[in-house]
Amino acid sequence: MPLKQRIASNFSRAAATYNSVATVQAEAATDLLNFYQMHSAGQPKTILEIGCGTGILSEKLLHAYPKATYLFTDIAEKMLHQHRATMQHNGMYVVVDGEHLPFSQKFDLIISNMTCQWFSTLWQSLEKLLENLNTGGVLCVNLLSDETFQEWRTALETAGATNVGLHYPDASTIQNHAFSGCTTIQKWQKIQEHYPTRQHFTNALKNLGVQAANAVVSRGILRKALAHFSSQEITITYSIHTLFIQKK
Ligand SMILES: C[S@@+](CC[C@H](N)C(=O)[O-])C[C@H]1O[C@@H](n2cnc3c(N)ncnc32)[C@H](O)[C@@H]1O
Repeated sequence: MPLKQRIASNFSRAAATYNSVATVQAEAATDLLNFYQMHSAGQPKTILEIGCGTGILSEKLLHAYPKATYLFTDIAEKMLHQHRATMQHNGMYVVVDGEHLPFSQKFDLIISNMTCQWFSTLWQSLEKLLENLNTGGVLCVNLLSDETFQEWRTALETAGATNVGLHYPDASTIQNHAFSGCTTIQKWQKIQEHYPTRQHFTNALKNLGVQAANAVVSRGILRKALAHFSSQEITITYSIHTLFIQKK
């Protein structure tokens, strides 16, 4: 199955359970909105959300900007179904790959929480999203970089997995990328998430749809990788970059 189809189908499968395990994602959504508000004085009138999922960030946006016009998008149809079932608003929905928007409509704010790490051509796609901004508009995204899941990657490799997947953009490339014709502000933080048991960790991977871009590992390797952790509790690092890119 092609990668994008795999991502969409894994997230669709995770839609019903996603919110119950998305603690890091919820924390990151609050942080992303705060970062946007800290650096932007205006009230956005038109907002496009890429990879809105079940609506963890959308809910906060709707609360902060109740009069804005919204377009909520995601590559996974069932994530949007879940969003529609729980959210009250007059916004529109489109099932679409955020790397290939089929419209030229422009927005005051394009925002995305914990999604762009799934992009195949990150920089090209972010540059393309800038074309959908009004002058003075902001593209505000956060994404995971390569130190994320380092503990789990090491455990899988030690257990003999040859292609562990979990490929995230390189942190220094993110920090050094320049967007022409824009003012960029960014920050980088690490969050350590503690899973009380190995079962909690594997459930979280499954229910978050994280397996989407991973290589499929055998049960034997999975068991060995989990045994690599000396205690039942597993601590996993999430390395999160936040970018505020304002079009001049
Ligand atoms: C980790 S979830 C985050 C969901 C939501 N933003 C949140 O804060 O909870 C990533 C979301 O991005 C979506 N996604 C992944 N690749 C995408 C792409 N290329 N275009 C649009 N959405 C994508 C997934 O379907 C999933 O809903």
